Amino acid sequence: MKALVENDAETGPVVATVPVPTLQPGDILVKVAYAGQNPTDWKHAAWISRAGDILGCDFAGTVAAVQDGETRVAVGDRVAGSVHGGKFNDRGSYAEYLRVPGDLVWKLPAQVELQDAAAIGVALGTSIQAIVQSQGNAFPPAQASGWYFIYGGSTGVGLVATKLAKLLGFKVVTVASPKNFDLVKSYGADEVFDYREGADAVVANVLRVTSGGVKQALDTISEGASLAISARVIVPEGGQVNLTLTPDAATTAAYPHVKFVPKLMYTYMTQEPFSIGPRAGGAVTVPVIPGDREFYAQALTHYTDLYERGIRPPPVVLRGGLEDIPAGFKDMQDGKVSGERYVYKL
Ligand SMILES: NC(=O)c1ccc[n+]([C@@H]2O[C@H](COP(=O)([O-])OP(=O)(O)OC[C@H]3O[C@@H](n4cnc5c(N)ncnc54)[C@H](OP(=O)(O)O)[C@@H]3O)[C@@H](O)[C@H]2O)c1
Repeated sequence: MKALVENDAETGPVVATVPVPTLQPGDILVKVAYAGQNPTDWKHAAWISRAGDILGCDFAGTVAAVQDGETRVAVGDRVAGSVHGGKFNDRGSYAEYLRVPGDLVWKLPAQVELQDAAAIGVALGTSIQAIVQSQGNAFPPAQASGWYFIYGGSTGVGLVATKLAKLLGFKVVTVASPKNFDLVKSYGADEVFDYREGADAVVANVLRVTSGGVKQALDTISEGASLAISARVIVPEGGQVNLTLTPDAATTAAYPHVKFVPKLMYTYMTQEPFSIGPRAGGAVTVPVIPGDREFYAQALTHYTDLYERGIRPPPVVLRGGLEDIPAGFKDMQDGKVSGERYVYKL
C-alpha cells in the first residue's frame, strides 16, 4: 500500500510503498478514505518520527477486515478515529490502510460525511479528555453553569472544545484573531477577545464579562503568554487549567492557586508505556494512565449523540492526496492554518 512515511531528518516524509498492516487480536483494518492534519503530525515528522514510521493520526474510512472475534464493527461499516501517527510503522492514518483496535473507533451514523469525520478525532478526543475526564464535567445532558475560559478559540481543539463546553451548559469566553471572531461565535462562544491586544487587556476583559473569573479553563496553545493569561482569569479561590503542551515550571509556580494539568491524547490509545520527544535525544517515557484507554472507548460511544446535539469538526479544507501533505505540514509550521482543518483524500 502507499503511505506517507518518515524518511530521514534531511528529506522528511516521503510517499512510499509499505506492507499492509498485520492485524493483532482485537484489531480492525480500515481502508482510509480521508485523513485530517493536526499540528502533532508535522511535529512528529520534524522532530520525533524515525525512518519508516507512518505519519498521520486522524482518519475516516471503511472497515476492510476484522480480527476473529471482533463484533463491535463489521466489514463495510464506516468508522473514524485517531491513532498515534508518526510513532509506528504499521498504523498511521496517512496510508491506504491502517490497523486500530475495534473498540477505539466511532461507528459513523449515515448523516456524518467521511471528510468531516476525518477532521474531528484529535480535537474532540482532546476536548473530552480535558473538560469531561480531567475536569469532571458530565456528558450531555449536563448541568454545568457559569463561565468557561478557552485560550485559543479558533484552534481546531478550541472550536470543538467551545461547542462541547456549550453543550455541557457553560457560557464560553475565549480569544482569537478578529478575523475569526464570527467563526468562534458560530461554534457557540458567548464572548471573544483579541489576544493580540496583550495579556493585560485580555485578562481585564475576561474578568469583566465573567464578573471575577472562572473555575475551569482549557489553554489550547499552552506556550508563551497563554499560560499566565489562563491562570490570571482563574478565580482567587482557585481552579484548574488544562493544557495541551507541557508547561514551563516557572510560570506554573507563579500561580499556586491554579492547578495546571497537561494531558496527552496518546494515553488514550496505548496499553504500554511509550517514549515521546526529539529523536535527537531527550525523549521522555509516558506511562500508561490506568483507566484512560477504557475511558476513551466509552467516550467514543457518546460521539453520535454529541454529533446529533451539534458537535462539529473545525471547517474542513480539502487539500489533495498523500503527495500534498508535506506542503500542508509547512503551512501549519509557518502559522498559515487558521480556523480550519486540512483534510486529504487517500
Ligand atoms: N496534548 C495533546 O494530546 C494535544 C492534542 C491536540 C493538540 N495539541 C497541541 O495543541 C496545540 C493546538 O492544536 P490545534 O490543532 O488546536 O491547533 P491549530 O488548529 O493548528 O491552531 C491554529 C490556530 O492557532 C491560533 N493561534 C496561534 N497562536 C496563537 C496565540 N498565541 N494565541 C491564540 N491563538 C493562537 C490561530 O488563531 P488565529 O488565526 O485566530 O490567530 C490559529 O487559528 C498544538 O500545539 C498541538 O500540538 C496537543
